[in-house]
Amino acid sequence: MNFVYDALPMRVVFGAGSLDRLPEEVEKLGLERVLVLCGPRQEAVGKRVAAALGERCGGILPEATMHVPVEVARRARGVAADLGADGCVAVGGGSAIGLGKAVALEQGLPVVAVPTTYAGSEMTPVWGLTESGAKRTGRDRRVLPVSVVYDPSLTLSMPVGLAVTSGINAMAHAAEGLYAPDGSPVVALMAREGIRALTAALPAIVAAPEDAAARADALYGAWLCGAVLGATTMGLHHKLCHTLGGTLNLPHAETHTVVLPHVLAYNGGTPDGGSLWRLEGELGAPRSLRELGMAAADIDRVAEVVAAADFPNPRPVTAAGVRELLHAAWAGDPPPASAAG
Ligand SMILES: NC(=O)c1ccc[n+]([C@@H]2O[C@H](COP(=O)([O-])OP(=O)(O)OC[C@H]3O[C@@H](n4cnc5c(N)ncnc54)[C@H](O)[C@@H]3O)[C@@H](O)[C@H]2O)c1
Repeated sequence: MNFVYDALPMRVVFGAGSLDRLPEEVEKLGLERVLVLCGPRQEAVGKRVAAALGERCGGILPEATMHVPVEVARRARGVAADLGADGCVAVGGGSAIGLGKAVALEQGLPVVAVPTTYAGSEMTPVWGLTESGAKRTGRDRRVLPVSVVYDPSLTLSMPVGLAVTSGINAMAHAAEGLYAPDGSPVVALMAREGIRALTAALPAIVAAPEDAAARADALYGAWLCGAVLGATTMGLHHKLCHTLGGTLNLPHAETHTVVLPHVLAYNGGTPDGGSLWRLEGELGAPRSLRELGMAAADIDRVAEVVAAADFPNPRPVTAAGVRELLHAAWAGDPPPASAAG
């Protein structure tokens, strides 16, 4: 057994009602004037957070959108500077947390994250910025949130469809962490437990969307999967989804959901691709790229781009292999039983 395990600093406050502990977290960090960041559709929860913070909140910017456009990042940095903010509280999914990271990257302001989806960005030192349609990403420890408040009650408002696709998006991090070249036994424990928790919680959420215990289990699983994402280098699945999202503007969590069973079958990963595909059917999740708006004519282009890219993967990646995989994912076919060679 040979491995390197480089633990990232991580402070997590978890549990229903833990939003009430946010002011204490902010105070503990010595922050006196934070900027609250959220998306336009989550302004109400952003305002709740601002109210809870009282005079430690300098302002709120409800402008976070997918993939952090540079214009929005610049506006957030400007507002933070004008307010004399000494930190940001990012409330929402990967988009809001990504905006907090964009401010941290340039101005060094610490980010406190309050995630409301299962995307996992709060556990990673990875930032992303989109300019003129092109997304740049990088790793920088300054953008890793200094504290993460996971309050499952904030996830109750996630519509079942989003909970399912976001949960499978999280499972993708764990699944790729299990075969990552920089994995370790500790990361594998987190990955397996994250997959287990989400596999159990998602059907329970579909059966009873108000089930608070199931929502908490799913968020717990998402935390672990996010930690795996932060600790390892992702492979074919994340490269494919990044390319599909970046070049064709396909929706993030849904794209992960459709592609994951096919990549798992290709790589011989865990969970088994066929089982996950069947589970997705039971959960009513999207299973074809066609229903997400992709044209079949784009398959070849995406396959060429992905095959030419440099990333680790347990099985060699060829344009022909990716093309075949994408054809099945596009059509909504089940993945082949044992594609891994
Ligand atoms: N840097 C990283 O490590 C990392 C990791 C994962 C994802 N990301 C990025 O994050 C983005 C995707 O994140 P996401 O899937 O969370 O999407 P998102 O943050 O864009 O949220 C999706 C939609 O769900 C809504 N929403 C969020 N929480 C809700 C809730 N509790 N109830 C009701 N509606 C809610 C949002 O308003 C938004 O309309 C992508 O840009 C992706 O690249 C980055």
